[in-house]
Amino acid sequence: MLFRELNCGKCKTYLIACENTRKAALIDPIKEKVDRYLAMLGYYGCTLDAVIDTHTHADHRTASFELSGLTGAKVIMHRRAPAPHIDIHVEDGLRYAIGDVELQVLYTPGHTPDSMSLYTGDRVFTGDTLLIRGTGRSDFAGGDPGEEFDSITQKLFRLPDETLVFPAHDYRGNTHSTIGEEKRLNPRVSGRTREEYIELMNHLGLPLPDKIQEVLQPNESALDDDRIPFPSLAQLNQVRQLTPKEVQALLSASPSPLLLDVREPEEYAGELGHIAGCLLIPLKELPARTAELEKCKERHIIAICRAGVRSTTAAAILTGLGFEQVSNLKGGMLDWNDQNLPVERGKQRS
Ligand SMILES: [Fe+2]
Repeated sequence: MLFRELNCGKCKTYLIACENTRKAALIDPIKEKVDRYLAMLGYYGCTLDAVIDTHTHADHRTASFELSGLTGAKVIMHRRAPAPHIDIHVEDGLRYAIGDVELQVLYTPGHTPDSMSLYTGDRVFTGDTLLIRGTGRSDFAGGDPGEEFDSITQKLFRLPDETLVFPAHDYRGNTHSTIGEEKRLNPRVSGRTREEYIELMNHLGLPLPDKIQEVLQPNESALDDDRIPFPSLAQLNQVRQLTPKEVQALLSASPSPLLLDVREPEEYAGELGHIAGCLLIPLKELPARTAELEKCKERHIIAICRAGVRSTTAAAILTGLGFEQVSNLKGGMLDWNDQNLPVERGKQRS
């Protein structure tokens, strides 16, 4: 296997490639370095088969969608990833082959709901779940410290001690560690119970990243232009979240709420289906199409998407435009389907 870390900075991007077929994958590519990645692929005589984000990043814009557009490489993320335009959604245990190199998906949520690690041969790519002598923060973007502790201790620490650890970030100049070293020396996890870990992670007191509008929401929505006035974190936090069961109960209320699906048309017609009677306005078109909703200004609007993330953005935008009662379907069509609630499938009626 050909293996290189390509950024030489605090954010890590890994190139892995099969030496026989010259097929390659990039793990966690960052937007500023697209030219460098294409040059390196050319230098090694590799074709880009896949671009993989270990999770939705809050600190840098992903290059996955741009690289996919330029090379035809498939975009791969965990099923819980909120963005559209992901070619392959993967789940725990799935194996994906890059030529002769096989990557095994380990679902390791906690830093974010869509965090996964990738295990191959003698090494594991841990994203921001397990860092060298640290762990990823779990205090926003759907993070959960208890889940993170379980991911680290029940999944990653069950790999052989000699397994090499390559994280998505390092702030101290380290390049790699091993599972055995992190078991013994990681100050956040070593010797702590689950409860102690949760207590620690809930009181880190880190400032929230100031790039919510410029980085996190564009990554969550795969939007690369300024058509969307992304709301602030405070505005997002004010959106009322309704569980699938609460939304279903409201469907028989009178007057019934307007269900606003903000996914892309191919998602609306895709495997998760859509809720009967919903109106489809993709998030990127929402600011230009609010006139269609004017007559609903006093009606209860429930925004819907894949994971409940893009629709929270949509709900905050509508609230900011004076729509009085806007809620969000928490967990989106993923949770709606997981709870076996009724869906329609097929294309949008025109
Ligand atoms: Fe992260």
